[in-house]
Amino acid sequence: MIKVMAVFGTRPEAIKMAPVVLELKKHVHSVETIVAVTAQHRQMLDQVLHLFKIKPDYDLDIMAQGQTLFDITSRAMMGLKEVLEREKPDLVLVHGDTTTTFAGALASYYEQVPVGHVEAGLRTGDIYSPFPEEMNRKLTGSIAAFHFAPTMRAKENLLRENVNERSVYVTGNTVIDALMKTVRHDYDFADESLRSVDFEHRRVILLTTHRRENLGEPMRHIYRALRSIVNEIDDTEIVFPVHRNPLVRKVVNEELAGLDRIHLIEPLDYEPFANLMSRSYLVLTDSGGIQEEAPSLGKPVLVLRNTTERPEAVKAGTVALIGTEKDVVYNMTKHLLTDAAAYSAMSNAVNPYGDGKSSERIVQAILHELTGSCSRPDEFL
Ligand code: UD1
Ligand code: UDP
Repeated sequence: MIKVMAVFGTRPEAIKMAPVVLELKKHVHSVETIVAVTAQHRQMLDQVLHLFKIKPDYDLDIMAQGQTLFDITSRAMMGLKEVLEREKPDLVLVHGDTTTTFAGALASYYEQVPVGHVEAGLRTGDIYSPFPEEMNRKLTGSIAAFHFAPTMRAKENLLRENVNERSVYVTGNTVIDALMKTVRHDYDFADESLRSVDFEHRRVILLTTHRRENLGEPMRHIYRALRSIVNEIDDTEIVFPVHRNPLVRKVVNEELAGLDRIHLIEPLDYEPFANLMSRSYLVLTDSGGIQEEAPSLGKPVLVLRNTTERPEAVKAGTVALIGTEKDVVYNMTKHLLTDAAAYSAMSNAVNPYGDGKSSERIVQAILHELTGSCSRPDEFL
């Protein structure tokens, strides 16, 4: 029997770790699965836990309004110290690039518990973009004993940093496992906030923004560009589930509140959100996870950032990196809304990030490494 502890704290980590936790729990005779959440996010984490019916064994409940990176890191570290001392797991799993991820890895290292890094090896090469995620991911990679790289390119990034090849598994991204369990053609939107969206007669633009490096002026530029688009093109509507960060909300309210055909709504549960994505015409976002999901649904994505650690879908032609300059956001969005050939060239469904079996591969790799009870999993190609 091995004891594996999953540590996560924000919405995207929860969405991407849920399939791994559920897969681990299938192996009740060989794995004891413990879930410890920092709750770096509160409401946005709980939405996901509820959907996937995951009850954490430990909930550090660290979120504070307007928290700083210092707050998150120190509170998560202190809370995890106690949990690790009590549980003494054989392996800690962390996901991705948040401050919870890094704190989870560092706390495990201090307790000399090996770390498995899910979604390992993504890099932009710029430690300030995305900030602080690029550094969180690199530092976590330095601590990890096992690296679950979603793509071959992510594996190559790790090998360039002299990571031992045997410790790297190319698994695909678990976000596609979650997505495949969630999107349904016959899905009925029960959410009150989506009732007034005219999916039948208008083209729906799905918008999300939350990156720290986009707070303030970059977000203002994006919103002004999109306000002009909706003013000029009658058959468009914007649906914008607004992140709970008060700094995001302030600019959103200043620039977009009270406008026709712009729906400012609360963050959606993952199920309606994923289904909304699949009914949208176009996605504009600075999110990491949405850049991975939308291409598999055949939705063109304009990424509101200057760099991306997810170049695979850019290469496949369904994602374009457009930055945050007002004129560029306006021109690129207008181009896709007015040039049918340009739109169609970007709307091919591609799956560079996964095939729905990533969590199976990760759990097989864990059993292979820790119990020797199965072979190495085949790589996701
Ligand atoms: C965090 C991650 C980022 C990830 C993002 C996903 C870090 C440093 N940042 O950024 O990598 O892409 O989550 O969304 O780890 N808030 C609530 N309720 C919630 C969630 C947030 O009220 O459920 C508010 C709080 O005031 C909180 C603020 O949002 O202080 C910011 O949250 P925080 O986790 O610090 O940063 P994010 O921008 O969400
Ligand atoms: N998401 C959601 N509800 C929303 C907006 C996004 O469930 O209202 C999901 C989305 O499908 C994706 C994840 O949240 O799986 C992305 O989270 P976010 O953009 O906050 O973080 P990032 O991926 O950039 O770290």
